[in-house]
Amino acid sequence: MAIEKTYNMIKPDGVRNGHIGEIISRIERVGLTIERMELGMVTLEEAEANYGEHKGKPFYEGLISYITSGPVVKMVVSGENAVATMRKLMGATNCADAAPGTIRGDFGLTVDENVIHGSDSVESAEREIKVFFGA
Ligand code: TYD
Ligand code: MG
Repeated sequence: MAIEKTYNMIKPDGVRNGHIGEIISRIERVGLTIERMELGMVTLEEAEANYGEHKGKPFYEGLISYITSGPVVKMVVSGENAVATMRKLMGATNCADAAPGTIRGDFGLTVDENVIHGSDSVESAEREIKVFFGA
């Protein structure tokens, strides 16, 4: 087992709809550790750096304006297999396909407002943590 760090972010809909506490509880309940946490806005620069891989896709502009539209909760989460464990807790990208019991399955309805972000690899996590928390 590998101790990993991952970057997670409760998106504007998750904050607006009052799911911060429940999401944090689920992360703690599996035994992962929240190492850093901050409530605040995402700047345009941070949004573009985080989602650079999607630039040019049809949903990109909407994604950038959405993620910068209201406060989010930025987190560094660590623990054994933290990247994959968080992706499992999150569920499928499209909330409509996400299983009941997952964060997206329980708290969202659509693909564009899907409650939570999580790094997709250890490499992405290192890059994203630098974007949001610095070196
Ligand atoms: P992606 O990295 O594919 O998903 P994930 O967040 O599960 O890693 O996409 C990034 C975000 O872009 C996704 O969380 C929501 C948004 N998105 C859309 O709005 N429409 C889409 O069709 C896709 C694929 C993503
Ligand atoms: Mg992704």
